[in-house]
Amino acid sequence: MFLFKSHKKDKYEMQLLGAVQISGHSFFVYKNFDGEISLKSGKEEKLQKAAVRRMIRLNPTVSRILERYRIKPCIDTKTLMELAGGHMNDTCKVAMGIYSKLSANLRSLISEDTIKEASMLHDLGKVLIPSKVLNKPAKLNKKERAIMNIHSMLGYELLKTQNISEETLDLVKYHHQNLKHSGYPMIKSDEHIPDLGVQIISTADKYSALREARVYRRRLSKIESLLILYKEVLEGKIHKDIYKALVEYASKYDKAA
Ligand SMILES: [Fe+2]
Ligand SMILES: [Fe+2]
Repeated sequence: MFLFKSHKKDKYEMQLLGAVQISGHSFFVYKNFDGEISLKSGKEEKLQKAAVRRMIRLNPTVSRILERYRIKPCIDTKTLMELAGGHMNDTCKVAMGIYSKLSANLRSLISEDTIKEASMLHDLGKVLIPSKVLNKPAKLNKKERAIMNIHSMLGYELLKTQNISEETLDLVKYHHQNLKHSGYPMIKSDEHIPDLGVQIISTADKYSALREARVYRRRLSKIESLLILYKEVLEGKIHKDIYKALVEYASKYDKAA
């Protein structure tokens, strides 16, 4: 499962091919000059930072967003690897579960590979969010919330220069958007939102986040999490068919308390 793909040489003279998940651990995949493939674990910080730095260099929009929000381009690869092995992996499992419970008609509208890739990549932009905001053990203030909310756009811009489909990129960009389009980033009236994919990823993202402990709250139970999301169905933020698929998946496969 690739977290991101790249075909350019980095300054350590190793070509970064992407990242994979093996038994819950994240590894970066490299090819050296002789064509030998090697896996480097999350501890290979230099190589990871070089990869993200290159993504920033390839797209000046990333630097412009950081400047606008007065964020120093500090690359937090520790957070990235934790997210890859934990939350992004969990979101992928739930998203695949929701997808498998949808009608064949709905499944024909979006590929399983797109859902898999987008859910594994959705929070990549957090690699550039300052850790004092990302890991604040309390409610974020208005300014911090604004900074946190650019992670979906940052992820989209970082990945734009990689070998990734438009469909996947859009899901990364809109993964905090809901059915009423009242989420973020703000949408222009003529903007097309791929609602089905966004609903699958965003619902899986919310459910997996609720099922994980956060610095500011405990991990919620399956029933508590489903009840919170049911409220969002009533508010028109989650489509009932997506919620139904989530309940079917969670009842059968989410065995944890
Ligand atoms: Fe996110
Ligand atoms: Fe997320």
